[in-house]
Amino acid sequence: MSGALLELVRRRLAETGAEPTPARVAVALRAEGKLLGDAEVLGVVAALRSEMVGSGPLEPLLAAPDVTDVLVTAPDEVWVDRGGGLERTAVRFRDAAAVRRLAQRLAAVAGRRLDDARPWVDARLPDGTRLHAVLPPVAVGGTCLSLRVLRPRAFGLAELVAAGTVPPGGDRLLRAVLAARLSFLVSGGTGSGKTTLLSTLLGLVGPAERIVLAEDSAELRPDHPHVVRLETRPANQEGAGLVTLRDLVRQALRMRPDRLVVGEVRGAEVTDLLAALNTGHEGGCGTVHANAACDVPARLEALGSTAGLDRAALHSQLAAALSLVIHLVRDRDGRRRIAQIHVLERDPAGFVVTVPAARWAPDGFREAPGWGRLMRLCERGG
Ligand SMILES: Nc1ncnc2c1ncn2[C@@H]1O[C@H](COP(=O)(O)OP(=O)(O)OP(=O)(O)O)[C@@H](O)[C@H]1O
Ligand SMILES: [Mg+2]
Repeated sequence: MSGALLELVRRRLAETGAEPTPARVAVALRAEGKLLGDAEVLGVVAALRSEMVGSGPLEPLLAAPDVTDVLVTAPDEVWVDRGGGLERTAVRFRDAAAVRRLAQRLAAVAGRRLDDARPWVDARLPDGTRLHAVLPPVAVGGTCLSLRVLRPRAFGLAELVAAGTVPPGGDRLLRAVLAARLSFLVSGGTGSGKTTLLSTLLGLVGPAERIVLAEDSAELRPDHPHVVRLETRPANQEGAGLVTLRDLVRQALRMRPDRLVVGEVRGAEVTDLLAALNTGHEGGCGTVHANAACDVPARLEALGSTAGLDRAALHSQLAAALSLVIHLVRDRDGRRRIAQIHVLERDPAGFVVTVPAARWAPDGFREAPGWGRLMRLCERGG
């Protein structure tokens, strides 16, 4: 089947807006003066269908159970991550236009625009898959497509232990942290598994508690009977209707949360979160991007400063608001681990510093200087 013929059929069907059924494709082919056998017609139908309704040549990659990311950098450069780092696949697009078409169609499915006037999109598809796309010339060389697959089911704690993310016996400590209603942040680099771990931990929250989630894109899927989900919204094309994470945190506080959760703390909402945690909303949690647990206070400082909160004020709130930082790393072989758990303390100058309390080891969490404090915090909850 030649690309040119496929394009002609595509155009014919697009004119009528019809779905590519075998009968319609056969009619379109005949109108182009082509008579093809049944098998070939079905081949055209499958090609067009996957282009129109699915994710085209990426479909089998996205459907594979172990694939977490699918990245397209050129028509003949499609990469996947199956949990062990990036691998190049044999998948090919027909040409650069096919990548662009797919990116635009996925953007449309997400209800967003993607064209020369607005050359990138960051959105969520209806099935939860996160879509990012940039068109040329901003993406030098060609349309770049990045898809992050959301697995509908959260990892259970036992699975995280089996995967080595939580060391043997570490699940007891995590259960104690949740039972004691300690407030914590899960930190780590990009794709280190922060959201996944937070989701799992929220599944340990007592069934009588009400969890209110505030997220940029609804990613957390805690296995819990009482979850309220709030999601931010970008402004529309007229610039109206923007809903920020900060708005959501404020709304969440009026919704009687037992656990206030900020999916990813990445801006001014840090001030509202800290204020909430300081005013009786204990047990709150979230994720934050940081390369090391000890960088978290500085990271929050930087975020707080965007909302005009000065350093001293932030630190005095932080000391009272937050109990723990749970830090994830992704090894070179792709395995994600809880590398460290830190407690927070104030240094003589009154600034918050993190102190390692537990370190990942193959046979269980190893005690570190802050261990005693961690145990006391956990005991407070009984
Ligand atoms: N412990 C784990 N073991 C195996 N796979 C994992 C683990 N944690 C997360 N993953 C997978 O890795 C991918 C990234 O996970 P996740 O979204 O939780 O990371 P993140 O740190 O929140 O990423 P981001 O920086 O984009 O917010 C997901 O597809 C997820 O299914
Ligand atoms: Mg995340």
